[in-house]
Amino acid sequence: ENSVAFQLMDIHEQAVTLYHHILVNTELGRPALDYLKKRGLTDDTIEKYHLGFAPGQRLLKPFFDEKKTDFQLLRKSGLFSENDSGDLYDRFVDRVMFPIRNENGKTVAFSGRLLNKQPDLPKYLNSPETEIFNKRKVLFNLDSARLSIRKNDPAILLEGFMDVISADQAGIHSGIASMGTSLTDEQVYDISRITNEVVISYDGDTPGQKAIKRAIDSFANNSKVAVKIVTVPDNLDPDEFIRQRGTDQFMELVKHAASPIDFELNYLKKQYNLESEVDSGNYISEALTVIAKESSPITRDLYLNKVASEFNVSKELLSSRLETLAASNQ
Ligand code: UTP
Ligand code: MN
Ligand code: MN
Ligand code: MN
Ligand code: MN
Repeated sequence: ENSVAFQLMDIHEQAVTLYHHILVNTELGRPALDYLKKRGLTDDTIEKYHLGFAPGQRLLKPFFDEKKTDFQLLRKSGLFSENDSGDLYDRFVDRVMFPIRNENGKTVAFSGRLLNKQPDLPKYLNSPETEIFNKRKVLFNLDSARLSIRKNDPAILLEGFMDVISADQAGIHSGIASMGTSLTDEQVYDISRITNEVVISYDGDTPGQKAIKRAIDSFANNSKVAVKIVTVPDNLDPDEFIRQRGTDQFMELVKHAASPIDFELNYLKKQYNLESEVDSGNYISEALTVIAKESSPITRDLYLNKVASEFNVSKELLSSRLETLAASNQ
């Protein structure tokens, strides 16, 4: 086959090889290699993910010109930016390169990370949308993780590249990343095709925790996938947690992952000052709306008991309120 898509994937494959070669075999790649080693990645991991380095503005164009690659094809690849006179320059400059594979294992895009923070530049720069890359539809590492998920490892949904790679290196091979905190309906659908249970382990910081709430709703509204939640402590992300505390401790978190309702009640609780009666009252009414979403009356009753005894309020008072809310959810 020789479709445009096929040729674009071929261009990506060649770029993967070139970026990787520069990272592991050349002086130009040394700072990036040192950076990755300092972040704890082994040679094997760097090899497995074919990480690379994009050194300057004029690497890919001469490389592909020499191979007489079609100009229009290069334009469509997303690997270049174009100046006013129509010349192509490398899109990725001075960045550690993460190849992004589709579910068939073909590289369809890249994300490039800056070695050092630079004002006005995004930490990770991604390929633009192309004929072979629709960011909403791709989950990082899905092609590889599905093999381990098929062997009954729990699918673990993470935010970022380094979370997936770090987990994999530590022996947890079923990690996939939404590549940021906005999980799309398409990604939810793709997850639902390979498993009926997912453990969400986004970053422990506020954006991560907020995103978990949105992800819970997406799974509930668009799939039958059962969701469990890991809250990574101390504002760490899974990569940092695994490096600081080890694989076993992370797997403990996964083993004791919370149900959505426990997560939401906990999350909610942190927004209130429970020393204050007024705040406690507000928490309780919000908690009732969370509990009301639960479809099983028995589960609702169990949580109602918990809240009533925790705050020493009458269960009868809360119960009628809860059932009214629950009825309006049916
Ligand atoms: P984070 O900001 O949590 O970064 O973004 P990280 O993954 O922990 O990265 P390191 O550890 O600093 O290297 C989570 C994910 O969101 C996407 C990337 O996929 C990233 O891995 N992201 C983040 C972007 O696409 N662009 C950005 O500028 C930042
Ligand atoms: Mn290689
Ligand atoms: Mn984050
Ligand atoms: Mn990180
Ligand atoms: Mn992070």
